[in-house]
Amino acid sequence: MNLKSLEQLLSPTGQEALTAAGELAPTEARYPACYDRLRKHWPENIARAALDTVLLRQRARTKFTHADRMYFDREALTMASGEAVSAYRAARFAPFSTVADLCCGIGSDAIGLAQAGCDVTAIDRDPLRVRMAAANLAAFGLPGQFRCADVLTDPLPDCAAVFVDPGRRPGGRRTLAIADYEPPVAAVCQRLQTRHPTPRRIGFKTAPGIPWDDVQSWPGEVEFLSSAGELKECILWQEPERETPLVRATLLPGPFHLSADSAEIETVEEEITAPGRYLYDPDPAISRAGLLPVLAAQIGATRIEPGSGGFCTADQRIDTPFAAGYRVDDVLPFHIKRVGDWLAHRHVGRITIVKRSSSADAEALMKRWKLRGDRHQTVILTRAQGEAVAILATRL
Ligand SMILES: C[S@@+](CC[C@H](N)C(=O)[O-])C[C@H]1O[C@@H](n2cnc3c(N)ncnc32)[C@H](O)[C@@H]1O
Repeated sequence: MNLKSLEQLLSPTGQEALTAAGELAPTEARYPACYDRLRKHWPENIARAALDTVLLRQRARTKFTHADRMYFDREALTMASGEAVSAYRAARFAPFSTVADLCCGIGSDAIGLAQAGCDVTAIDRDPLRVRMAAANLAAFGLPGQFRCADVLTDPLPDCAAVFVDPGRRPGGRRTLAIADYEPPVAAVCQRLQTRHPTPRRIGFKTAPGIPWDDVQSWPGEVEFLSSAGELKECILWQEPERETPLVRATLLPGPFHLSADSAEIETVEEEITAPGRYLYDPDPAISRAGLLPVLAAQIGATRIEPGSGGFCTADQRIDTPFAAGYRVDDVLPFHIKRVGDWLAHRHVGRITIVKRSSSADAEALMKRWKLRGDRHQTVILTRAQGEAVAILATRL
């Protein structure tokens, strides 16, 4: 879609075409047939824009509860933040009356910010995306200002806080290093820090796989976010007036927070032991933030293997939002036949395989074991005290 066809789609005639396209319940496979039907009544570009929008809205339903009101382009939909994460971030901006959303894309974060009560100025260098952002906020009945501008060279608005979501695919290839983002994080920081007054809170959205060097060299808070157990993103926060180096894991929908200053993490003494009666599988935001030793110390658990991932263990049952708990039924060295015999002996017919630091092929194992029976068992394949083990466990 281009800017002209979006404008036409937003016109009363375009909206009729959009309704008609929706009524055809199109699929990718039936695209040519649906397009031909629409072409009988509407010009080529309106028919195509309407059909593309309906298909993108179908795809966007996993990300947005109101996808059927929104406008997308394919790439922007992939890059747009999901609602839960966006709303959480927006809540951290809610104390600020004016917020600039730099690199706004189709405006999914601007929607969250406006819903949190902020007066949002949304900026992107792509005119189509700026127009989509404006249409998307309007579709929700939300106010906002929209500008097509380059955040590195054009004048920026005076706002109390700034959210930046740079592109992470320069030249079409995914990058993790924040120096390669479009625009690079340091370049935006430099521009914002030389402004008077400087924004009081700045948040950069980055990929959760951000290199650890970038995390360690960040002067402010680094927050890893997960939603429903899935690692989503990392936010680099800056509060130029009040800088504290902090690593935080936030689990949604809670939100549940675990945090520590970076120096503190390094001083936590780690105890590595054999698996006890219970095993705790930490949320990926905790592991990615390097907060496993902090979690273990906080819940009174030890760890079964040193390193950045892995399980905590304890002999007592612990209720924590930060880890999934298992009762340990048995621990075996990882030997395919021995584990298969254990399962067959106990009439286990269904298994859930959980793998951490294991290269075992779960599907091949399932086929090899040919399980029959009415019992269910969780089989955890991991390393404990340097050995590959199978931990037979039951989810608490
Ligand atoms: C990851 S997307 C933003 C997604 C957005 N937060 C959303 O939820 O839809 C990155 C955006 O940065 C914009 N961008 C890249 N470099 C820019 C620059 N120098 N100035 C303004 N926008 C830029 C791209 O056009 C793209 O829309």
